[in-house]
Amino acid sequence: MKGVILAGGTGTRLRPLTQMINKHLLPVGKYPMIYYAIEKLREAGISDILLVTGKQSAALYIDFLGSGKNWGVKITYKIQEEAGGIAEALELAESIVHPGEKLIVLLGDNLFESSLTAYVKEFDMQPDGAKVFLKAVDDPRRYGVPVMDGELIKRIDEKPENPQSSYCVTGIYMYDSSVFGLIKGIEPSARGEMEITDVNNLYAAKGKLTYHILDGWWIDAGTFPSWYEATEKLREYPKINTGDGQ
Ligand code: DAU
Repeated sequence: MKGVILAGGTGTRLRPLTQMINKHLLPVGKYPMIYYAIEKLREAGISDILLVTGKQSAALYIDFLGSGKNWGVKITYKIQEEAGGIAEALELAESIVHPGEKLIVLLGDNLFESSLTAYVKEFDMQPDGAKVFLKAVDDPRRYGVPVMDGELIKRIDEKPENPQSSYCVTGIYMYDSSVFGLIKGIEPSARGEMEITDVNNLYAAKGKLTYHILDGWWIDAGTFPSWYEATEKLREYPKINTGDGQ
């Protein structure tokens, strides 16, 4: 299974900091935000990782992470020219995913406690389709909100005014390689972005979108209050072995 970390976007809710530096390079505890996504993938045995980011700080990522050799993973990079949406960023992974191969996608600003190991193993056994991870939240209107039907997701509403459940869809997604064909079938939304929720809804319409409720804490660190919260949670994070002795 390939790993894809999406670390583009404009980070508007963390301005002015993100006018200077890409959001996923901001410190969270002892490490830059991006380290945690790489560590979650590595821990789950995903060693082939694509990092998608914008032009702004691309050189810094390469400087910090290099080929991934020190981490025991292989990191390749793709540049998303403009922040055209999560699905547009994901489409850049098409050339590195073989037909029939599965992929796990992490939004780089999503920080969470749970290990992905068991979920990766389980999705390997799922014949096809996609899987999303849900978390109960206080204000679902900030997120994609699922409507569940037994073991499947019936539909996801992106940032709805009247949420139909108290869950949000987190930025942890698992797909079969048909995702790239589905991305080509969607149009930009009213806010001008290629929405990952539209892609997920195509899987849902086919009865192919499964879910898990994520264990442990989960934070979308894309706003100042949630970034502070993440810093608090990850203050005592165990040392990440990046092979450089730091
Ligand atoms: O955090 C979970 C939520 O993430 C989901 O519940 C929503 O359904 C999903 O749309 C997304 O919502 P956000 O409004 O939080 O997305 P945001 O624009 O903040 O982007 C999330 C990540 O995706 C961020 O770490 C950077 C990356 N990204 C985003 C865009 C728009 C890219 O790599 N390229 C992009 O063009």
